[in-house]
Amino acid sequence: MALEAIRSSRGSLHILDQLLLPGQSRYEAVESVQQAWEVIRAMKVRGAPAIALVGCLSLVVELQAGAGGPGLAALMHFVRERLSFLVTARPTAVNMARAARDLADAAAREAEQDGATEEAVRERVIRYAEAMLEQDLKDNRRIGDLGAQDLLAKAAPGGGKVTVLTHCNTGALATAGYGTALGVIRSLHSLGRLEHAFCTETRPYNQGARLTAFELVYEHIPATLITDSMSAAAMAHKDVSAVVVGADRVVANGDTANKVGTYQLAIAAKHHGIPFYVAAPSSSCDLRLQTGADITIEERPGQELTDVNASRRPPALPLSPPGIGVWNPAFDVTPHELITGGIITELGVFTPDQLHAAL
Ligand code: MRU
Repeated sequence: MALEAIRSSRGSLHILDQLLLPGQSRYEAVESVQQAWEVIRAMKVRGAPAIALVGCLSLVVELQAGAGGPGLAALMHFVRERLSFLVTARPTAVNMARAARDLADAAAREAEQDGATEEAVRERVIRYAEAMLEQDLKDNRRIGDLGAQDLLAKAAPGGGKVTVLTHCNTGALATAGYGTALGVIRSLHSLGRLEHAFCTETRPYNQGARLTAFELVYEHIPATLITDSMSAAAMAHKDVSAVVVGADRVVANGDTANKVGTYQLAIAAKHHGIPFYVAAPSSSCDLRLQTGADITIEERPGQELTDVNASRRPPALPLSPPGIGVWNPAFDVTPHELITGGIITELGVFTPDQLHAAL
């Protein structure tokens, strides 16, 4: 059975509590927008596309239960207000903000129709959000296939298998299913062209050690876990053919925010002459921002570094002495010139300078 971070049918939403993985698979019901905000904030759901999907589908749950209104104007106000609230859960990934804009626009278009009714707008928002879930899955499969083709053409032009290094979690658990960077690895594996995958631990929250490693084992993909600090050595000694990572926000010049540690991987890949790819749906691209300097980087609690157990439950297993200062940015920005392989989207694989015209 495929791994699912999100289980949704009209009026009902459940998320797999990622704080309990890999030890326990437990789904939690999300019955309101407030609860969605909380599960996103608490990292029970994480990954840019999954955050947006859970946010929008939680609004569906409320709308299906009759919230908003009475009357068209009151419903429109409710939809906009709930979406704006969801955007505040986490700042770096663009997907929730973009989904909120698209959903609000869809509602506004319906409300402008002749004879528009509250019911029609409610139904339009519900259907639009439900379609986002299906679209993300389709986009990921396309990203996987396009990325695998491009990577094989660049890294193994003469045929043969490739070894891919990835960072953080970009798989079924971070998306509607299949995954982005991990989707490329899945596609290579199903083509019989993947020699091996390396996944980084992804300190401090360990998305790689806990979630990506879990997905790779679950899918029977040959893989090895390394700490983040072993990445350059792996490139030097383990025949890494390409690095593929996801994205939380790709801006107009191709600069890309992704999980902290991505930037150093891109530098190491450049040094070793290894193609470095970003794999992300076009919904992760934010052409309104010009460069990476414009991206807000989320800073998270220092406890994630000083407490071995902070990304699981129960917390409190001290690693560092009380009183030490901590800097914990959750993301970094990889400058576009280091993205040497390309930016893999569902619409094609682009060099950073092609991105703006292509989308
Ligand atoms: O802090 P997280 O776990 O939400 O960060 C996730 C990442 O950085 C992912 O690599 C990114 O969102 C791409 S998910 C397909």
